[in-house]
Amino acid sequence: MSETQDKVIDEVMSTGRSKGGRSKGGGMRVALLGGTKGMGRAMARQLAARGDRVFLLGRDTEELARSTADLDARANAEGPGFSHCDLEDPASFEPALDAAVAALGGLDCVVVTAGMFATQDVLEDDLALTQRLLTVNFAHTVVFCEHARARLLADGGGTLCVFSSVAGDRGRTPVVLYGASKAGLSAYLEGLDHRFRSQGLVTVCFKPGFVRTSMTAGLPEPPFAGDVEPVAAAAVRAIDRATPQVYAPAIWGWLMAIIRRLPRFVMRKVKF
Ligand SMILES: NC(=O)c1ccc[n+]([C@@H]2O[C@H](COP(=O)([O-])OP(=O)(O)OC[C@H]3O[C@@H](n4cnc5c(N)ncnc54)[C@H](OP(=O)(O)O)[C@@H]3O)[C@@H](O)[C@H]2O)c1
Repeated sequence: MSETQDKVIDEVMSTGRSKGGRSKGGGMRVALLGGTKGMGRAMARQLAARGDRVFLLGRDTEELARSTADLDARANAEGPGFSHCDLEDPASFEPALDAAVAALGGLDCVVVTAGMFATQDVLEDDLALTQRLLTVNFAHTVVFCEHARARLLADGGGTLCVFSSVAGDRGRTPVVLYGASKAGLSAYLEGLDHRFRSQGLVTVCFKPGFVRTSMTAGLPEPPFAGDVEPVAAAAVRAIDRATPQVYAPAIWGWLMAIIRRLPRFVMRKVKF
């Protein structure tokens, strides 16, 4: 691990623990869908390193086994394990969450970082891919979240932290289709927070700007691109503080406050 990564993990470990995540002694019990790569993997490592128990959900069993072994090594203890869960296959959702509940003895927090991306040009030329992306990022993610919130509420509440995107805040030329999938997801997450917060369900809608991960590899880098570790640390902080909506890197909150107010004739002309 690099010095920067160590610093980030130290910072996460020293933050207050779990208003939203409800530490029940020995750290949070977390099910994390998307922990094999990118921001999800960084979050899983940070949570495990500070003593939370992280059960991984994902579609690639070999990769899940490798990632779980890596978490066990970082936590210096045998972790709760993993289960197969594919956002393209809703039949996998309930058994995966059941396995998480059984392994952890309940759930304090469910995190969803899994998602798909393709560029606007590629999606416009391939409507089958567009349908997959819209289904995975919106419809199936919402169905997964519905299963997760039912389990969290049945156990007295907890935190549901889901990765949406700044791309969902405004209809924009380069991300019309991907942005639409995330706009729907953001609207759902906001509604969920309003509907269930009083019953103990905290919903965190986490909106990254551009972050350097395998998802964005090869894409032209815009200004204010972020790195995985600090962005993942911001998501962990959002869970601890029960913040309903977070932009990361933080400057994207200011940028989007301006972009949301731009008139349509300006949005039509600009290419971002
Ligand atoms: N990177 C950015 O600039 C950026 C910006 C805004 C929002 N986001 C959002 O942030 C989240 C994380 O992005 P990232 O950049 O960290 O992505 P990433 O590095 O590409 O990782 C994506 C994760 O999603 C999993 N996944 C993909 N399809 C899946 C499916 N059908 N079922 C289950 N798991 C699936 C992948 O699993 P495998 O290991 O099996 O592939 C992987 O663990 C995504 O929701 C993304 O849309 C990213």
